[in-house]
Amino acid sequence: MTSKKLNINYIKTCNCSRNHINCLTAKEWLKNQVAIWEFYYESRDIRDKNIHPAVFPIALPKKCIELFTHKGELVLDPFMGIGTTLVAAKDTGRNAVGFDLKKEYVDFAKKRLSQQTLCDTKQIAICDDAINISDYLEKNTVSLCVTSPPYANMLNRPRLNKSLMGKARYNDQYKKIQQYSNNPRDLGTMEPKKYAKELGKIYQKILPLLKPKAHCVINITDLWWENRRIPLHIYVIEAMTNAGYELRNIIIWDRRNLINGAGIFGWPSNYITLGTTFEYILDFWKPLK
Ligand SMILES: C[S@@+](CC[C@H](N)C(=O)[O-])C[C@H]1O[C@@H](n2cnc3c(N)ncnc32)[C@H](O)[C@@H]1O
Repeated sequence: MTSKKLNINYIKTCNCSRNHINCLTAKEWLKNQVAIWEFYYESRDIRDKNIHPAVFPIALPKKCIELFTHKGELVLDPFMGIGTTLVAAKDTGRNAVGFDLKKEYVDFAKKRLSQQTLCDTKQIAICDDAINISDYLEKNTVSLCVTSPPYANMLNRPRLNKSLMGKARYNDQYKKIQQYSNNPRDLGTMEPKKYAKELGKIYQKILPLLKPKAHCVINITDLWWENRRIPLHIYVIEAMTNAGYELRNIIIWDRRNLINGAGIFGWPSNYITLGTTFEYILDFWKPLK
C-alpha cells in the first residue's frame, strides 16, 4: 500500500531563540496574559450558515498560532470545517493541515485558500475522518493543534434562535436542523458521553504527532438539554487528560460583542444565562514525560 504521508515542512524558519515558544516580543506576550479573549469578524470571514453552520473568526486560530508557534512550523486542525485555521496559518507564514469528514467543506476550504496570495508555506485540506490523521503526519512534527470540534449533538435539533429578539428570531434559520452530516462518524451526531469518548480516541492518536510541549487548543461550549446544563467542557477536559494531555489554561472567549439584541427567556422563575455570551478555549499540551 502506498504511504499517505504528506510532504510538508515543520521546522521553524525564523531567527528567534530556540527556547522561545513563539515569535512574540515581551510586550506582545504581556498583552496575551489576559485570560479573557475577544474577537471580531473581518470581511473575509464566512458567516453564511448555509455554507457552514459554525465557523469561528480567523482571529481566533490566528491568536493561538501566534502564541504557540514560530514561523515555518506546522499547525494541525482535526475538525477544520471550511478551513479557517488554514487561512490564519497562511496569513501568519505557518504550514498547516486540516481534516474534515464532509467533502463540501473541504472543497470550500480549498477554494478559500486559492483566493489568498501566494506564499512559501503550504496549507493542505484533506477529506478524511480525524481518527486517521496519523496516516498523514510524521511523529513529533506538529507544533500546535487547534480546532473547534462539533459541540456534541448540539446542532442536531431545530434551531430556535432563543438568543435573538423580536422578528430577528424568525430568520431563515428558524426551526432548521443544521447538523454537519448524517455520517455516523460525525462527532456532531453523538450524544455527549459517546462524543467525549470518541474525541478522546482521536486525540490519543494525535498525541505522538505533536512535538513535546506542543499546545493543543480546543474551543468548546456547554450545552442545555431539556432544561439541564451539560458541562461539555468538563467532559472534554476528562477525555483529554485520559488521552495523555495536560490542561494548561482555561480561557474565556467573551462573545458579547457578537450578540446584537437578545430575547428574554427564563423570566421570572428560571434563571439561565445566555449560552451565546461566552465559550471556552481549553489549552492543553503534550507533557514532556
Ligand atoms: C465546529 S465545525 C469546525 C468549523 C471550523 N472551525 C471553521 O471555522 O470552519 C466542526 C467540523 O467537524 C467536522 N467533523 C465532525 N466529525 C468529524 C470527524 N470524525 N473527522 C473529521 N471531521 C469531523 C464537521 O464536518 C464540522 O465541519
